[in-house]
Amino acid sequence: MVHHSGSTENLLGCSEKITLNAPAKLNLYLEVLGKRSDGYHNLCSLFQMVGLYDSLSMTEVAVSKGLALKVEGVSGEISLAADASNLVLRAANLLQKEMQEAGFPARGARIHLMKKIPISAGMGGGSSDAAATLIGLNRLWSLGWSCEKLAELGGQIGSDLPFFFYGPTAWVSGRGEVVEPVSQVLEGIFLLVHPPFAVSTAAVFKAYEQARTQERENGNIELTNAATHLSIPLDVGLKPLAEEILRHPHNDLEKVTLSAHPVLKEIKVLLKSLGSECVLMSGSGPSLFAYFEDSDAANVAALQMEKHGHRVSVVPTLKQSPFKDFL
Ligand code: C5P
Repeated sequence: MVHHSGSTENLLGCSEKITLNAPAKLNLYLEVLGKRSDGYHNLCSLFQMVGLYDSLSMTEVAVSKGLALKVEGVSGEISLAADASNLVLRAANLLQKEMQEAGFPARGARIHLMKKIPISAGMGGGSSDAAATLIGLNRLWSLGWSCEKLAELGGQIGSDLPFFFYGPTAWVSGRGEVVEPVSQVLEGIFLLVHPPFAVSTAAVFKAYEQARTQERENGNIELTNAATHLSIPLDVGLKPLAEEILRHPHNDLEKVTLSAHPVLKEIKVLLKSLGSECVLMSGSGPSLFAYFEDSDAANVAALQMEKHGHRVSVVPTLKQSPFKDFL
């Protein structure tokens, strides 16, 4: 749901408020192509927005009040600071710096973030929140900047951000900055499993490199050539259809995270036993998803997972990005 009133601050000092729903993403396919000279990795990944959202409300305040962030909805052991390290404030600060360099006057904003997407879980929640911040403040501050410009700024904050300007479904490559939207929309339901711990993306990529070095020394290339998992070679620019991906789900980072957290292997086995043929970890994990064609089957499987003590969500694939109305 989207609320947007078109005026700026009125005479009584009541400010415009913009509310955006920031969706989670899943990586239906993720291949690591190799390490780059800047330390990042070139990837080839199919990103899909799904119906699990954080919510961000932004209100203009006096410029003297600067930028303020309030975070709600975070419970349990995984914390999320509301300080300058938060991707929302990093996005707001970057936008403010850029607009001042472009000759716009400084503006202030109060941002309220309600978290629902698990943190550091491979579902892009922080990236989606930061993208929502750039998109929302672009409106609130009447900058009129293009989707392309905002996506480029987003890419400076995190590799997963550019996708969120072009979803709901897209092939993502390079470090994350090359986004090719897929017009054919994937339909279906995902059962998500939310393990009660966070995973550091940087640590997963590091472990992936170590494992690759080890595999090479052992003469085993299992971790290195994910393209063999698909019938169409990825390097000729022919991207397989989503259906093909669902038949051959693959994530190069999965082996690393599953080795570090064996409970994830047990969850995968359980999910497969509940009738999904497409069960995979998203991003660097630890979230796992199982694809179902219909919601009844997904709900039955969800109940079973809950009986086994797992936290789950049942969400649809998104046919349209909730950011579309703001771009
Ligand atoms: O870009 P972001 O800050 O989200 O990346 C977190 C970490 O994940 C990076 O510091 C890097 O170690 C790793 N990464 C990578 N290649 C990518 C994306 C992320 O190596 N394409």
